[in-house]
Amino acid sequence: MTQRVLFVLLLISLAMWAQEGGSAERGAAIFDGKGACISCHRVGNKGTRIGVDLTDIGELREHDALEKALLDPATEVQLANRRYRVVTSDGTAHTGKLLNQDTSSIQILDEKEVLRSFARSEVRENGFIATPPMPSYRNKLAAQEIKDLVAYLSQLKGVTKQ
Ligand code: HEC
Repeated sequence: MTQRVLFVLLLISLAMWAQEGGSAERGAAIFDGKGACISCHRVGNKGTRIGVDLTDIGELREHDALEKALLDPATEVQLANRRYRVVTSDGTAHTGKLLNQDTSSIQILDEKEVLRSFARSEVRENGFIATPPMPSYRNKLAAQEIKDLVAYLSQLKGVTKQ
């Protein structure tokens, strides 16, 4: 009987211990699945080339900063991460990452990762578009899921980059 109680206690303490830290493995699954982080982000060769790159984020940010990014994300997107839109004279719109522009042309990497160059003379409209800022995950994910994501992000140190 006592043995049984001890065994149950052991199980409970093991479960509590497991909950304490985050699991990078579970975090990776949330990143690609439930959290849909991959729809806006890029890690190594996953996600689009125009997504905000988190491949080295574990090198760049401390644990607390990562947690803050998920709970209280930036309300404004840095210029380098903003999407660019070009409308040509026939009315076709292209969006992507602005690579370069000069007096005669504009180059973007579009959503399909195709490099496109437009002569200024064929451009009707161009400019940065307000990328929807990242939502807060405070009420979308459980505290444990946030920990798992932070554990996953902390170990992204560029190793998956190709
Ligand atoms: C709707 C698009 C979108 C989604 C979905 C999204 N993010 Fe973001 N995230 C952004 C943008 C845009 C930025 C960059 C903000 C800036 O440049 O100022 C960002 C920034 C970040 C940063 C900070 C990067 C830095 O340089 O400090 C982290 C960490 C991050 N996101 C993680 C995640 C995780 C984890 C998820 C999923 C739970 C997620 N994001 C979902 C758009 C998104």
